[in-house]
Amino acid sequence: MYTLLSHSRTIFMGKETRCYEHATSTNEIASILLSNFRPAEGTAILTFDQTAGKGQRGNTWLSEAGKNIAVSYILYPLFISAAKQFLLAQAIALGVCDFIRQYIDSNEVRIKWPNDIYVGSKKIAGILIENTISNAGIKNSIIGIGINVNQTNFDNKLLNPTSFTKETGKEFNLPGLAENLSACLEPRILALKAQKTALIETDYLNNLYKYQQSATYLDSDGIPFEGTIIGIAPGGKLIVQIKDKNCLFDLKEISFC
Ligand code: BTN
Repeated sequence: MYTLLSHSRTIFMGKETRCYEHATSTNEIASILLSNFRPAEGTAILTFDQTAGKGQRGNTWLSEAGKNIAVSYILYPLFISAAKQFLLAQAIALGVCDFIRQYIDSNEVRIKWPNDIYVGSKKIAGILIENTISNAGIKNSIIGIGINVNQTNFDNKLLNPTSFTKETGKEFNLPGLAENLSACLEPRILALKAQKTALIETDYLNNLYKYQQSATYLDSDGIPFEGTIIGIAPGGKLIVQIKDKNCLFDLKEISFC
């Protein structure tokens, strides 16, 4: 069962929001909806109690019941080719940063490549985008966003979590936040639609965690190395300068220390 909400502040993002009291995974619900009909562009599936959240790299996304936002948006960005799909991830990560900066007074809100959202060195939000590709471009996209809001105790398995409450000492109203998230994402999607690619790419770099800073990373064998992030390749790989060489890394080939 869900409650249907209609957001008045947006043109399409979250305009239709299906708010579930409990849900296994909002990405899974979005996928089931898509297999049955064509939900309106920007339809949001929202819950504050997600019990089997999916994370990146096959991980689970843990969230205490009633404390956080778990939302998935459905988009049909056919105008983005398969080769350029990282642009969508960049635009969404920027929208989530815009949103978090409205509540957390910090210059330290950053995107950790590819699209984790950090405050300082702690993760406050995660994004899982699942695209269905056709010859013409991205046929549909499920944009899953998990944001730690009022949770203060986290599973020990998680490396460095934080939340709105941990950063500010305040409690937040989840439905109000969810509506504002839609309003923050929409201009970034519209910029994407208007082909403002260079703007999105530059903004992404300007918000990128450890950009142009020398740091230690681990390779896929767990061996540490020193390098400096100097950019993003067109397909979304991370470009790291190691000594005098520029090396490209895919998701599984590098981890941050
Ligand atoms: C990550 O591993 O950092 C990505 C986490 C993404 C979690 C969100 S919560 C809403 C949506 N539904 C899911 O099952 N996963 C995403």
